[in-house]
Amino acid sequence: MNQYQQLKEAEKYMKSHHSDDATGHDIEHVMRVVKMALFIAEQEGGGNPYMIQMAALLHDTVDSKLTDESKAYQDLDTFLDKIDVSAQMKDKILEIIEHMSYRSGKNNDIEMSREGYIVRDADRLDAIGAIGIARTFQFAGHFNEPMWVGEIPDSISGEYDLDDYSPSAIKHFYDKLFKLKDLMHTETAQAIAEERHRFMEYFVAQFFKEWDFTN
Ligand code: ADP
Ligand code: NI
Repeated sequence: MNQYQQLKEAEKYMKSHHSDDATGHDIEHVMRVVKMALFIAEQEGGGNPYMIQMAALLHDTVDSKLTDESKAYQDLDTFLDKIDVSAQMKDKILEIIEHMSYRSGKNNDIEMSREGYIVRDADRLDAIGAIGIARTFQFAGHFNEPMWVGEIPDSISGEYDLDDYSPSAIKHFYDKLFKLKDLMHTETAQAIAEERHRFMEYFVAQFFKEWDFTN
């Protein structure tokens, strides 16, 4: 199978995993990550486009939050063998996917390939801004999390003691989304993240204003 055919097969494999998803891991998310990753690579002038597309297409077929992780890796491994991806390339793709996730910042100090940084930045960009906000509420709705619980924090994007708050969509902004801007690796992603970050701050400020309108 040539690389073009492999990419088509990877797209099909991805679609079979993400059909009917309402947790923010839908096909459109994956396709945005593919496009954004290719855009970043073009802007930065580097990275193997085939590897970037393969990793981006397959990155969310493994997610500990949603599936049995080790089985998902095995399935992915078997799939890559089946479509004739070389052992060397397979390792590179799987390594990117393993270190994609945020995991409370734990994966952040791990050195990655250039392609890995690019795909991870693209995935993180899709978690912030208007789309990031929409995905967060979709995820929260799916898992029966409320929009917000508790007192309004003093500072909008600043730190607060997370343990004081129970799970909610807005809490997720503090847990993760407001931190992503400073975790982008490429300059291209940093610049895009600036605008999206400001938009989220504006959104959360307005949210709290409406939450406690008479205050
Ligand atoms: P990805 O790896 O594709 O960025 P995640 O698996 O981290 O996605 O989550 C999918 C979407 O749901 C993201 O937009 C993320 O910010 C959001 N999300 C993840 N965990 C929560 C949560 N506890 N509450 C609300 N939204 C969440
Ligand atoms: Ni993703």
